[in-house]
Amino acid sequence: MPESRCLQGIWSSPWIFIFAASGSAVGLGNIWRFPYVLGQNGGGAFLLVYCLCLLLVGLPVLVAEVALGRTVRSNPIDTVNDLSERRIVHKAWVIVPWLAGISGFLILTFYSVIAGWSIAYLERALSGQFKDISQLGAEAMFEGLLANPTEMLLWHSVFMVLVVLTVGQSVTRGLSALVRILLPALILILVGLAAYSISIGNMTKTLEFMFAWSWQDITFDVVLAAVGMALFSLSVGMGAMFSYGAYMSKRMSITRACGIVVGVDLLVALLAGLLIFPLVFSFQIDVEAGPSLTFVSLPIIFGGVPAGQVVAGVFFALLVIAALTSAISMLELFVAWLHEKFYIARLKAALLLGIVVWFIGIAVLLSFNHWDNKIVFDLNFFELLDEITSMILLPVVAILLSVLVAWFIPRTMLQNEMITKQSNHFEWWYRTLKYISIPAMVVITLAGWIGA
Ligand code: PFF
Repeated sequence: MPESRCLQGIWSSPWIFIFAASGSAVGLGNIWRFPYVLGQNGGGAFLLVYCLCLLLVGLPVLVAEVALGRTVRSNPIDTVNDLSERRIVHKAWVIVPWLAGISGFLILTFYSVIAGWSIAYLERALSGQFKDISQLGAEAMFEGLLANPTEMLLWHSVFMVLVVLTVGQSVTRGLSALVRILLPALILILVGLAAYSISIGNMTKTLEFMFAWSWQDITFDVVLAAVGMALFSLSVGMGAMFSYGAYMSKRMSITRACGIVVGVDLLVALLAGLLIFPLVFSFQIDVEAGPSLTFVSLPIIFGGVPAGQVVAGVFFALLVIAALTSAISMLELFVAWLHEKFYIARLKAALLLGIVVWFIGIAVLLSFNHWDNKIVFDLNFFELLDEITSMILLPVVAILLSVLVAWFIPRTMLQNEMITKQSNHFEWWYRTLKYISIPAMVVITLAGWIGA
């Protein structure tokens, strides 16, 4: 298919895909979600399973999503419609991109609220509120934020405005410059902060917690959480990477590019763990605290760090940008579809979708205070959305998408796309996807549901 078919154009440099995809992958998932899920799932055993999931499930599914995107150069919904018109696949498969879009959309409703917390902390950092803060002070600060829906609404709204304005522009333009600076800066500041945290915190316990494991710690819950986390963290199963694949230059090897994205994503998550846990153990913060873990630990670190106000300001600014470059990819599927199919301007499409996300986000932020009541299965609205997306939608979409690519899309179509002069990992990827990733995802997901 000619490169000119893509309505948004092709990214000029092959590296832009790596930056954009890493920008989508690296976000609150790495810095906020990974440490607390690691904490809730026993540490080392989870990390081990998580790395295996990244390699045997996340990477092959990521490659599948990107390869399909680049092969067809269109948005996921039109792609499946097009393939069914050409009688390559049945039209029922269109359910996959729809579910993918819906899960990205639902994730954004709570992602934006958490990103709002990061903006609130940016404001607190800049006004010097972390200075010499005690553990009790940090806990009170976080609880104070959760108890204040008006403030949460303000930052959630600010974040959604940023998302709509950024997605409203062409993805090819908006992203590259931002991520090119963001990623190296984020990694650099994480290395510095992790070194500081290690120097003042409990390193021995951290290493033991993060890297030691025993067989009996590997339960189905742990495995299911690891699969969900791997898919969430790599932004797969939501059509985001598919859309970026559609803009990817033919000159880049898909497997190599995706391998780099997985490596960067894991590196950032590990650095976040090494930043948070030394402090968690030395201050005896509950490792199973859940979503509050990162937001309680970080102020304590910044409170003691030299030039803490500036460092904290830079850190939270980077975190907000990282959240932004992830959030925009969650809306990309539907924005691209509305734009390409109905010629609705990107900004208008982003605005329409953004308003709905913003509304649902209000229910999410209220579930941390006024609507804290459990709706079903002992879960409040936020927890319910989190469970539905990471335990059901993400694995189901990832499985269906992989089955579509591995069993229904003609092999030659993918081969033509993927076998290039620089790369012949096709067989390796194809077999892993077919015989390892798909069966593993099916077994783990079903077992997790039955056990849940
Ligand atoms: N991968 C992002 C993170 O770790 O923060 C979250 C994410 C981005 C999820 C894009 C889904 C998505 F479509």
